[in-house]
Amino acid sequence: MQYASTRALSTVEVASWSNPWRLACLLGILTFLGSVTTLHVAPVMMGLHSAFSATRTNSILGGTQKAVTFNRLLVNTGSDFNPDTGHFRCIIPGAYYFSFTVGKYPKKMLSVILVKNGQEVQAMAYDDYKKKGRKVQSQSVMINLKAMDTVWLMLQDSPQHALYSNAGPYITFTGYLVYPDIPATGYLNNHLSPPGQPYPYPNPNPNPNPNCPPPGDHRYGWSGSAKAPEEPRSAFSVARTSPVLGENGGGHQEKEPLTFDVEYVNIGGHFNKTSGRFTCRYPGAYYFAFTVGKHPHRAVSVKLMTGHGEVQAMVFDEDMSRRREMQSQSLLLPLRRGDNVWLYSQQDERYAVYSNQGRYTTFSGFLVYPDTDPTTTASQD
Ligand SMILES: *[C@@H]1O[C@H](CO)[C@@H](O)[C@H](O)[C@H]1NC(C)=O
Repeated sequence: MQYASTRALSTVEVASWSNPWRLACLLGILTFLGSVTTLHVAPVMMGLHSAFSATRTNSILGGTQKAVTFNRLLVNTGSDFNPDTGHFRCIIPGAYYFSFTVGKYPKKMLSVILVKNGQEVQAMAYDDYKKKGRKVQSQSVMINLKAMDTVWLMLQDSPQHALYSNAGPYITFTGYLVYPDIPATGYLNNHLSPPGQPYPYPNPNPNPNPNCPPPGDHRYGWSGSAKAPEEPRSAFSVARTSPVLGENGGGHQEKEPLTFDVEYVNIGGHFNKTSGRFTCRYPGAYYFAFTVGKHPHRAVSVKLMTGHGEVQAMVFDEDMSRRREMQSQSLLLPLRRGDNVWLYSQQDERYAVYSNQGRYTTFSGFLVYPDTDPTTTASQD
């Protein structure tokens, strides 16, 4: 089902609903809107907020619990995250960005998987270095969620594994809605009744919850008056499920991009996973984040590149030991239409990138703020 708009809910109104009503109301509203999706209905994102950030100030020994739980909740806009269970439950369908960092416990291994609905592996943080040292490992991906999907961090259930934290928390988990699953163009007010007038469409789901504001009630913003401008959207998130080994020779004149075989999201289709390149269509400020696995007996050197091979950021780990671990990096880049962004892994036999079905190696990017200059943001095709 394609959801139409919810121009409905200002933050204050959403916050004032208790959570079960919020869910029931949103589902009711979305069901109602399902009946008008063939019309050119416009969404305004106001009120479609979901974000959490939580930390944990003590360690977890493997075998004692399956999910990473949290004792400090910093943000929980929409109340979709439960720190006691560690579960995020999606209420508003859409594309969510999740990132987490976990501490490796001395002399234990680290293995944490971001899972959806209990079993679907999304990405992993891993470190099999069983020495004394403490360190952190990070991971992030953007994934699509439907209402009622759950996302949480699953621990390897064995005494060989543990997570370290203390009062300066090593363990953090953050997630937020980037793009709700609703169309980004059109005008809601063309198709919903103006304030005080009767509903123009038969209601397939009449007042499913008496505590919900009725659709069409202008107090809840259903009858907007301003034209919603087209909101550009661009986001991708991809992973590899196999390693890439650097080789000497082979005439690698070009800095060939790292390619990917798993696509979590590709909103707008601006990322080509076969070529490994993101091509900017909407000028603006983009956030990019990547994590790469270290291959046993190889070093890691992966660069975020633009243009003709300009390096914008990189990760590096020259440890040639047999251990597997990861390195992460992120930044914002200003892009113009047509700009390319990709990852390059050093092409010689000392270097490699490790990944497997656990999806250690990930690459994500999304438009944070489009340029406001109308001459550059106007749709050019
Ligand atoms: C993606 O990249 C591959 C390899 O460079 C190319 O063959 C293909 O045409 C590209 N796809 C699109 C949709 O541009």
